[in-house]
Amino acid sequence: MNKPQTNMFAPETLLDPFDHYRAVHDADIDAEVVEGMGAYVVYSYALCNEAAGKPEIFSNDFTSLMGREEDEEINAILAEGWPDEATLLTADAPVHTRNRKLVNLAFSAPRVNAIEEVMREKSIGLIADMANKGGGDFVEDFAIPLPVHMIAGQIGLDKDAKQVKKWSDAAVDRFSQMVDHERKKECARSLVEYQHYMKGMIDDRRANGGDDLLTDLVNARVEGETPLTDPEIMSIMQQFMVAGNETTTSTIAGCLLQLIRNPEQMEKAKAAAGGRDPKLIGNMVEEALRFETPTAGMWRIVKEDTALGEHEIPAGSVVQLRYAAANRDPAKFENPDVFDIERKNARAHLAFGKGPHMCVGNMLSRKEMLVAFDELLERLDNFQLSDPDGIEVLPNILLRGITKLPISYEVAA
Ligand code: HEM
Repeated sequence: MNKPQTNMFAPETLLDPFDHYRAVHDADIDAEVVEGMGAYVVYSYALCNEAAGKPEIFSNDFTSLMGREEDEEINAILAEGWPDEATLLTADAPVHTRNRKLVNLAFSAPRVNAIEEVMREKSIGLIADMANKGGGDFVEDFAIPLPVHMIAGQIGLDKDAKQVKKWSDAAVDRFSQMVDHERKKECARSLVEYQHYMKGMIDDRRANGGDDLLTDLVNARVEGETPLTDPEIMSIMQQFMVAGNETTTSTIAGCLLQLIRNPEQMEKAKAAAGGRDPKLIGNMVEEALRFETPTAGMWRIVKEDTALGEHEIPAGSVVQLRYAAANRDPAKFENPDVFDIERKNARAHLAFGKGPHMCVGNMLSRKEMLVAFDELLERLDNFQLSDPDGIEVLPNILLRGITKLPISYEVAA
């Protein structure tokens, strides 16, 4: 088979990568060095799975790749806050292991179940507002506000969820390497503002207790481990805001788009919504995660000379695990480009990663999406694309998702 002519990191491929994924799988390319970047990209399910399971060789300590170098002006702004600790996503063992043990306590099933009612109420409220309008941008009207509200509520900002979105956007811009110096300064100020806000909330929860994720983090104790420090809690909560918002938004929007494009799937999903078949709605969420894979790729740094499949990879190499390509690998998923809410092995996807860094928010976002579609498909009907050319997608080297989805609908009979 011929090598595909497309380049993984060309802007047009990032915008619409699916032909590229098909071409690499057809040509049996499980990993390659991408020209112009010098980084390896891993495409196959088997090799992504293998590398994600070997954190001692494929390290998550990749902050150096994320444009953290600062100048004096920016350092002076950052000096007004707390050290920006590497935690969870960008930490290796033993720091990661300790962080994760403590965070797992906070992200327990009882905590997620306790906020299910809040998710449902918020979803129903957003749907009622949508019903009054009869149409609009689904991303702005539903897919953004639901996850932002859920995280905002957990850090005491439910009355000012827009502030969470602003901090989260600034954190993304800070590491995007695609903004000018003025914006970098703004982002540094935003980080310091966020840290001061969080410090107040952490002190409050320590003194007065509370019933939210932040209180769980402040109180998290594991025998033999020191509790989380204030800068660690600040960093972890920031990861929750950033890692949890855009990804859940993209999956919700992508799922609705696929249902609209596949009316027979929409019919099956509608028959299952409203609590009639939560298992099928749950499987639909897994299929949406597989199909959309909003965290399309994630970096690793190779710690020692190693082999991955037939590739000899030297120490110091930069590798991107392309989870989105792995989720379209025909060796794992039959007819991978078909959106099938009854797919038997949908849950085997790598949209949440695999191994010790597997998404800590997976239960929260799964529940959010299940509740969202259970209510949306029951209360609204006849979803249509009102402006198919108006659909917008964010191209980014790691994330991919729909940022605008103009639709119309009716209130269900
Ligand atoms: C559809 C929604 C989501 C997707 C697709 C997603 C995807 C991912 C992926 C692929 C990873 C693994 C990264 C790696 O391989 O290094 C990850 C880790 C992580 N996610 Fe999520 N995520 C989602 C929702 C959330 C939510 C709701 C939160 C928190 C509120 C969250 C917080 C995190 C954190 C803190 C990590 C780092 C965990 C660690 O390194 O131990 N994510 N996520």
